[in-house]
Amino acid sequence: MKIQVKEGNIAAIKDEIIMVGIFEGKDGIKAAARSLDTASAGMISEIVQRGDFKGELYKTFLIHKTQGIAARRVLIVGLGKEKDCTLEKVRGATSSGARFIRDMGIKHFLVPGNFVQLSDISSSDTVKAIVEGVCLGLYSFKQFKTKNEKRQDKEIKEFTILAEGRNEYTTFKKAVSSAEILSNAVKLARDLVNQPANKATPGYLAQTAQALAKQYGLKVRILDIRLIKKLGMGCFLSVAQGSREPAQFIILEHKPKNVLHAHPIVLIGKAVTFDSGGISLKPPQGMERMKDDMAGGAAVLGIMQAAAQLNIPLYVVGLIPATENLPDGAALKPGDIITSMSGKTVEIITTDAEGRLILADALTYATRYQPEAIIDLATLTGACVIALGGEVAGLMGSDEGLLDRLKQASKVTGEKVWQLPLWDEYAELLKSDSADIKNAGGRDAGAITGGMFLKEFAGKIPWAHIDIAGPVWAEKDKPYIPKGATGFGVRLIVNVLENWVKM
Ligand code: BES
Ligand code: MN
Ligand code: ZN
Repeated sequence: MKIQVKEGNIAAIKDEIIMVGIFEGKDGIKAAARSLDTASAGMISEIVQRGDFKGELYKTFLIHKTQGIAARRVLIVGLGKEKDCTLEKVRGATSSGARFIRDMGIKHFLVPGNFVQLSDISSSDTVKAIVEGVCLGLYSFKQFKTKNEKRQDKEIKEFTILAEGRNEYTTFKKAVSSAEILSNAVKLARDLVNQPANKATPGYLAQTAQALAKQYGLKVRILDIRLIKKLGMGCFLSVAQGSREPAQFIILEHKPKNVLHAHPIVLIGKAVTFDSGGISLKPPQGMERMKDDMAGGAAVLGIMQAAAQLNIPLYVVGLIPATENLPDGAALKPGDIITSMSGKTVEIITTDAEGRLILADALTYATRYQPEAIIDLATLTGACVIALGGEVAGLMGSDEGLLDRLKQASKVTGEKVWQLPLWDEYAELLKSDSADIKNAGGRDAGAITGGMFLKEFAGKIPWAHIDIAGPVWAEKDKPYIPKGATGFGVRLIVNVLENWVKM
C-alpha cells in the first residue's frame, strides 16, 4: 500500500472516496467535516439533524455524489464524544473507515490531515495516528492460504493524506514517512509471531536479523551453540538442550554516527519459538498458541529495524536468545541444578519456567556493555494475564526514572502497561534449599516472582522488565489490531527511544 501526500482543497479534489470524522452531539461537525458540510450546503448537518448518523465511536456512514463536492463519495466516521477523543481513538476510527472502504472493494481513498483536530495535539501527531490506524488496521496474514479468499482481491492499493498549503505538506510528508516506518516495524513483528513454529525457528530469526542488518546497516552477530557454551551461558543452554533446532543468540547493534551516548540502551527479547513446557509439559489445550512465545524477540527485531530506518541518534543493542523448549531424552529435568553465565546456580522446579532462564544469561551478557539501561520484553507468565488481562503488559523494574519513561510512552502509544512491585519480601518465594535460587515459586504472585528472578541478574544497571504474555495476541479483532499477533511493544519502545534525550 502506497501513501501519498497531496496539497489541495478538500471540496475540489477528485477521489473515489474521502474519509472524515465527526464527534457525537450537537456541535460534532468540525475540521474537515465542517469544510465539506459548508461546500455541500449543509449535507452532513442534515444527516445528523435527521438522526441518520450520530457520530458514535467507530461507526461509519456512506454518502454518494453530492453537489459541491468533487469526490465520488464521502465516508463519515464516528469519533464519539469530543472530550474523550484521543490519538488512540483516531487510530481506531481511521482503521474502521479503511476496513469499510476495503470491504466495499474500493482501491483508493483520501484522508484530510484535519480528519480531526484535537486540542493540545499537533497536526503532525494526528497524521501519524491516521497512518498507523490505516496501516495496522488493514494488516492481514495470508501467507499460507493457497486459495484466494474473497477478501484477497479487495485490497487498498494507495491512500492520500491531504494537506492545505506548503507548510502542511512538508510537515505531513515527514509525519507519514516516520509513521510508515513504525507501522512496517510492527508488521514485521506481527508476521514473525503469526508464523508457525515450524517456519519461525531460531535459525529463521537469525536469518531475519542478518537480512535486516544488511538492508538497514545494522551490525549483526549470531552466537551459535559452540560460542554460547564458551561464554558459559548454562541457563540458556539447558533450555536449548532438548531441541533439535540449534539455538541462536542474536546480537543486533544500531550505532549511528550522530550517536549522543557512549553507553548503549540494551533491549532483550525472549524468543522461545515454541514452548511446550519441556519435561514439565503443558496441557494440550491451547498449546498451539505457544508459537507466540518469541514475541519479545520479534518486537526487538521490529524495534531495531525502526531505530535504523528512523536514524534514532542513540546507541541501541538488541539481544535475542532464541530456542525451542521441548521434551526429549536430553532435555532439562525438574530438580536439575544448573550454573548461569553470572556464576549463580539455579535449581529447576519446572522446565516450563524457561523464559527467565534464557533471559538471565542475556541479562548477564548485557551488563558487559555497561549499558545506560536494559529493557526486556518477554511473554513470561500466564499469571500476568490472570492479573492484568489480555490487553495490558506487566511492568517491573529497579529504576523509577526508566519506569516513568515507559509509562509516559504507554500513554502516547496506547500500548498499555501497569506496574507491579518487586519488593524484597517476594525474594523469599524463590529461595532454594540446594542452589542459589530456584526458577519458580508457588502459585502466589507469579508475574512478580518472574520479575524477581530476572532482577537477580540485572545487577545495578537501570532495568525494566515488561511481561507481554497477554497483549501480544488478540483473541478477536480490535479497532486497529486484527485477530492474531499484535506486534505489541514495538511502538512503545520506539517512542521511549525517540524521547530518550528529550526527557
Ligand atoms: N511462555 C509461558 C508464559 C505464557 C503462558 C505466555 C500463557 C502466554 C500465555 C512461560 O514460559 C511459562 O510457561 N510460564 C509459566 C511459569 C510458571 C511455571 C512459574 C506459567 O506462566 O505457567
Ligand atoms: Mn514456559
Ligand atoms: Zn515460555
